[in-house]
Amino acid sequence: MFRLALVGILFICCIFLLYSWLTSRQDYFRRKHVFITGASSGIGKALAIYLATKKGARVSLAARSVDKLEHICRNIKDQGGSAQVIQLDLCDSSSFPKALAESMKSFGSIDILIANAAVNNEGLCFSRLSLEQIDKVIETNLKGTLYFLHLVLTEMLKENSGHIVGISSLAGYRGLPMGSVYGATKAALSNLLESLRIELYDTNIHITTIHPGFVDTPAIQGMKHPKLFLCSAETAAKKIANAVSQKKYSYGFPWIMEHIVMRVVLCIPQTIFVPLLYFLTKRHWIHG
Ligand SMILES: NC(=O)c1ccc[n+]([C@@H]2O[C@H](COP(=O)([O-])OP(=O)(O)OC[C@H]3O[C@@H](n4cnc5c(N)ncnc54)[C@H](OP(=O)(O)O)[C@@H]3O)[C@@H](O)[C@H]2O)c1
Repeated sequence: MFRLALVGILFICCIFLLYSWLTSRQDYFRRKHVFITGASSGIGKALAIYLATKKGARVSLAARSVDKLEHICRNIKDQGGSAQVIQLDLCDSSSFPKALAESMKSFGSIDILIANAAVNNEGLCFSRLSLEQIDKVIETNLKGTLYFLHLVLTEMLKENSGHIVGISSLAGYRGLPMGSVYGATKAALSNLLESLRIELYDTNIHITTIHPGFVDTPAIQGMKHPKLFLCSAETAAKKIANAVSQKKYSYGFPWIMEHIVMRVVLCIPQTIFVPLLYFLTKRHWIHG
């Protein structure tokens, strides 16, 4: 009889723990101030709409195109969500303090920063990129992103609380044709986020690195090569939100790309990887 009661109590405790774990994940974004860079398009836009309308977050929508942000903001508010527009150009770091202060005026300190904005190589191989194009990718994806992240982190450290999410890419794992500068910035971002995770280990600030595969957004519309396991921006947003709510260190999707394709690709030695990629992709880029 005593044993039966003990098993019953243990069972109830397990159910209670499971329930609290599930509800804490459900409520992770509720009333939190989520600041999303690159919220005017693609993954950032889908994330903003999902978090504000389905997860109860208060979202700062940041990018250069204010008209697009206003439209998304109205859409969110029409659905009962909470959002505000913040004009932000990652290539102009002098404007960062003003943008940050403006976002905190109505929504308070940033609880979650999603560093999502980026530009790519525009489908060009390295030798065809102008120095201005190279600068633009580095300024946006790396320098601007890191400067802004540094500013937000300084604020988070004052309260010893926060979550920084960096949208990197599976393209950061290995060098790819037409992805030279873009891939280098993503590899650098993933590396930096890992350093931060170690430096902030004993704080209450979490770092999550996201490695998306192909997501159907304007950024990849012009790409000629096959887009393996392409997913929609809305699906990507749900997957990212789920990984963030679990405070994962690192999360890549689709599952098959992160756990099968990339694992295999990482094991291939250079002597095989280089000619293999050359012959598989050269028709898409060699004269482009
Ligand atoms: N789509 C994919 O297949 C894929 C795969 C792997 C990783 N990713 C990553 O996912 C993230 C989102 O990509 P996406 O596909 O959604 O791209 P996207 O649709 O082209 O959106 C890019 C966003 O970045 C913003 N942006 C660009 N330059 C900026 C600047 N100087 N200052 C501030 N904002 C700037 C753009 O807004 P404005 O032009 O209005 O400023 C836009 O909102 C990126 O980090 C990308 O590397 C995408």
